[in-house]
Amino acid sequence: MSQASAAPESSRCPIRFEPLSPDQLRDPYPVYARMRAEEPVFYSEPHDLYVVTRYADAVAVLKDHETFSSQNSVRTSLAPPPPEVATELARGYPLSPTLTDSDEPVHRRLRGLVNKAFTHRRVAAMEDPIRRAAGQLIDDFHDDGHADLIEQFGWSLPLRAICQILGVPERDIERLHVWSYHWLKLLQATDPVTDQVSYARSVVDMQRYFLEALEARSANPGEDLMSALLEAAREGDEPLDMVEVMRVPMNLIIAGHVTVTRAIGNGVVLLLEHPEQRRLMLGDPEALHKGVEELLRLESPAQGLFRTVRTDAVVGDVTIPSGSRVMVHYAAANRDESQFERPNEFDLDRDGLLKHAAFGKGIHVCVGAPLARLELRVVIPLLFERLRGLRLAGEDATERDVIFFARGFTRVRVEWDVAGEQGGD
Ligand code: HEM
Repeated sequence: MSQASAAPESSRCPIRFEPLSPDQLRDPYPVYARMRAEEPVFYSEPHDLYVVTRYADAVAVLKDHETFSSQNSVRTSLAPPPPEVATELARGYPLSPTLTDSDEPVHRRLRGLVNKAFTHRRVAAMEDPIRRAAGQLIDDFHDDGHADLIEQFGWSLPLRAICQILGVPERDIERLHVWSYHWLKLLQATDPVTDQVSYARSVVDMQRYFLEALEARSANPGEDLMSALLEAAREGDEPLDMVEVMRVPMNLIIAGHVTVTRAIGNGVVLLLEHPEQRRLMLGDPEALHKGVEELLRLESPAQGLFRTVRTDAVVGDVTIPSGSRVMVHYAAANRDESQFERPNEFDLDRDGLLKHAAFGKGIHVCVGAPLARLELRVVIPLLFERLRGLRLAGEDATERDVIFFARGFTRVRVEWDVAGEQGGD
């Protein structure tokens, strides 16, 4: 669009933004490039959504939290849940506000709480536990010579990491995985109603689980993050109540789990496709830091999230009417040629690498980024070191996750050479 416009007219533009179509699941980047070039603030009529694709516009939206509200920032659709689902959810507690979907001043209170408890020291102390957990998971399948990296490693490792920080016992990890997966499915709201009812049941079970866990720590505090959150919640002028605190570990579990699962799958597949960059990246610690950033830029696990416009707003040269939904497209911004030279190439020595938007920008920038980076810097080299000759197994080794705002795999089948390998960390 070259003129400011309020009324969307998708018929003017033949660009198809269909993130769930097989061709765009395989390779969405040509469509993003066209959107950036031809209609950088793209109105998608089927989704009733303005999609912001240029880097400068995306950052401007993310930094203007007064105009662009984060309420419902992780919901693809604002349609109310079916009555059966609403009834099930009513057995629990309101799901919002969380850190992710709150605005000021609530967001500032919650972020202050998390910042106080989720310290750099606590994250740095996780390096050895992450390495140990990753080593144990690899031990479990190493001698088979093949594995599904998502099923047998990718989801489990980040969940173990966040559970360990929070103080969740290992025996509960499996059900937390199921509950958080169901929560994501509930947010997507695309499955049959009977399934959605069971997802809602899981979410309520998860709420009760964390309330009980916090109450236990309230009586008997420990060294874990849940105890630290409770302590931080009691400080300050406006103490938070138990339900408000309960939403924090729920939020951390879901935000800190599937995102890293996707980053591990995307990262391994990209590195298998780029052996030269892999050799560089795994060759020295500085290159490893840069390589992790480049993987996140190239295949951003969170492709985009949502904002709601509070007053008419101009983005680029498009006027977005008050009340509209906006998708801030981190992944399209991360391939903006005005910011990143040869944006589709994997180049860990590129200029300006660190300005990528894979963790967002502004007040909602990812609070778990230091943990995510640490996990990736530990596990990616470990996988390539332990699984000698790692390669994709067969033609249909990978399968993409069918999800509107994220990018990752549900399956990455790999194989490696077992003979002569010693195992062990
Ligand atoms: C590679 C992995 C990860 C990616 C790509 C990622 C991406 C993001 C992005 C893009 C946002 C900004 C959302 C917005 O603009 O509305 C965000 C926020 C957030 N992330 Fe992450 N994240 C990752 C890992 C983690 C981890 C490990 C945790 C926790 C342990 C975490 C917890 C959160 C939370 C709580 C927020 C909300 C922060 C706020 O609204 O103030 N994330 N993340």
